[in-house]
Amino acid sequence: MKNLLALNWKMNKTPTEARAWAQELGEKLEAGQAELAVMAPAVTLSALAANLPTGVGFGGQDVSAHESGAYTGEISAAMLKDVGATYAVVGHSERRDYHGETDAVVAAKARQAQANGLTPIVCVGEKLDVREAGKHVPFTLAQLAGSLEGVGSDVVVAYEPVWAIGTGKTATADDAEELAAAIRGALQERYGDAAAGIRVLYGGSVKPDNIASICAKPNVNGALVGGASLKVADVLGMNDAL
Ligand code: G3H
Repeated sequence: MKNLLALNWKMNKTPTEARAWAQELGEKLEAGQAELAVMAPAVTLSALAANLPTGVGFGGQDVSAHESGAYTGEISAAMLKDVGATYAVVGHSERRDYHGETDAVVAAKARQAQANGLTPIVCVGEKLDVREAGKHVPFTLAQLAGSLEGVGSDVVVAYEPVWAIGTGKTATADDAEELAAAIRGALQERYGDAAAGIRVLYGGSVKPDNIASICAKPNVNGALVGGASLKVADVLGMNDAL
């Protein structure tokens, strides 16, 4: 299975900056082993659709749990699909923490994405106190179960230990594999044979010099990258390393 390099810009880049980034990527990108997709602010997606090199996809960083209607400020899955997106991130820890999103809300968003032909990237992962208490595996699997309620197998799961996000503290490759293998087991119970085709990503301070060892693990199929997604040079470095 091809690794997925999912680049999460978070709240960075104007449409003008997004266009320049996409054009620079188009000039410098050589065929790599990974699939690349940019998870970008909604207002930049048209610029990405027009300027990304062929074969590089994009998606939303969030999606509404509702189909359409009086939900001021929300972006629907149909809107993302119409602009050419193929993915939508749901349940990122920053959405769970700062916007109070529960597993039920995350699952509703993932179902809405799938109903509109988008592949949800469902994020799960524990905070430091949970890890220090040795409960990271059961915690993350419970979060995953709640976040996949009613969700079909056309899904990507991103394991992102919250203590490793934007902190420079990367989980070791073995830490990533421990959870990726546990997640794979849970996916097998839920989806049967289809689980073998589901990508499980690791996220948390991934950069060019650590991505290869993490993605070499048997149950890790790519990375969800924040900080190192902003500069084209880092993206090329990660793509080359895979
Ligand atoms: O979505 C990406 C993750 O939150 C990781 O962010 O690479 O800046 O640690 P980071």
